[in-house]
Amino acid sequence: MYLGIDIGTTATKAILVDGDQQLLASATMAYAVSSPQPGHAEQHPDIWCDAVLTGLAKLRLEAPKAYAAVSHIGFSGQMHSLVALDENHKPLRPAMLWNDTRGQAECAILQREFPDIEQRTGAVAMPSFTAAKLLWLKAHEPATFTSLRHLLLPKDYVRLKLTGQLATDHSDAAGTQLYDQATRRWSELLLNKLELPLSVLPPLLESQAEAGALRPAIVNELGLKAFTCTGGGDTPVGSLGLGCINPGDSLVSLGTSTSFTTITQGYQPTSANCLHNFAFVLPHQWYRMGAMLNGASCLAWAAQLVDASDIGGLLEAVTARYRGPSRLLFLPYLSGERTPHNNTALRGALLGLDNSTDKLDVAQAVLEGVAFSLRDAKQALGIDRTSSQPGFIGGGARSKLWSEILATVLDMPLTCPQGADYWPALGAARLAKLCAGGNAADVLRKPASASTVEPLNQWREAYGEKYHRYRKAFAAVADYSN
Ligand code: XUL
Repeated sequence: MYLGIDIGTTATKAILVDGDQQLLASATMAYAVSSPQPGHAEQHPDIWCDAVLTGLAKLRLEAPKAYAAVSHIGFSGQMHSLVALDENHKPLRPAMLWNDTRGQAECAILQREFPDIEQRTGAVAMPSFTAAKLLWLKAHEPATFTSLRHLLLPKDYVRLKLTGQLATDHSDAAGTQLYDQATRRWSELLLNKLELPLSVLPPLLESQAEAGALRPAIVNELGLKAFTCTGGGDTPVGSLGLGCINPGDSLVSLGTSTSFTTITQGYQPTSANCLHNFAFVLPHQWYRMGAMLNGASCLAWAAQLVDASDIGGLLEAVTARYRGPSRLLFLPYLSGERTPHNNTALRGALLGLDNSTDKLDVAQAVLEGVAFSLRDAKQALGIDRTSSQPGFIGGGARSKLWSEILATVLDMPLTCPQGADYWPALGAARLAKLCAGGNAADVLRKPASASTVEPLNQWREAYGEKYHRYRKAFAAVADYSN
């Protein structure tokens, strides 16, 4: 038996699977992101640990026999965040998350000091990544920076609490901008610039490597005696969960954020359009990603705006009234944007309002605007109709209408496996099984049952035209940045 734990931005998911990857029990523990100032996004690391303990207690209640037979635990987690610890492994401040964009000025410094930063670290300097957050900390909270002894990513902090061991994996290290993608080692060059000793960074292990047994106190509390494996970043672990592991395999994920990823043949850095070229969760493999800051988070914003507490109900109402592309155009840059703009000052827009505009119009325009931003990523990646059919996962994939709008805007069919938002957790459970000695070809297979979402042929042309209007409208919002 294996556990997969996915530490997300809005919730932690924990699943219990058997040796054949059948789901036996699952639990979701939601929590909030705090934003004390615009552009800041923080969470105290202990809320993840509490969520994991609560989740495991739920799994234990739901499937006690299987739970007691768990031998290995795998992890997936939100990437890029800065978890800053003192010498006693205590958090020095709340974690600064991937969507915390306060380090824009620091990116200019990184870019100036390291003209080849893209080649080395796989992406242009961006505030989402850990290096810019560290530089920000150094400039704005120098006492905290001086006390910093250990830097971890979210899933590594949880594992540390469970096992007492410091470690990270290559896929999460890859998203820090402190890592040399080609050699798969920490970049001493960047660390020197930050005046940080290598000892601040955790040892690098493979994602499926054993990363410590549960501490005796945890064994008692959880009623579980198991080993952990290192795990990885949520995007690549989700890809592994779906069996997207070979060059050319691609995946669209529509969760709080969105991403379009494709596995590359070796490390092939390209700086075009702010793409990311990162180490994958399997040894000697890399992937390329268009990553957007604005996904289902935009729908949550719209629901709040129109006072719709039930997002599912709002989506159902939009679906029932759907008659083709909305008259409204939504530009989704509520948090600025990463791919393809790398501009934290960008802001969103809603164009085409009139006296009859209602909340369903706004919600539908949001679904379309997020789909357009994924088309930007598709173009940046050079994916076309000859590429293999992408998988589609994340909370957004639970909506048939959003999936169909996306397939139409992307102008390609999408493979939708069941259980849209559980793939990073399954990927984590797969890593746990590999850690236990599972055979890779067997463990990493593609899901047996998946449906295909086809583009809505009657709206293909209209969405094509609307995408061009979206691109043109970008010039106007670029002028209206914060
Ligand atoms: C990936 C990214 C997000 C976070 C949050 O680059 O920023 O997917 O990992 O899930």
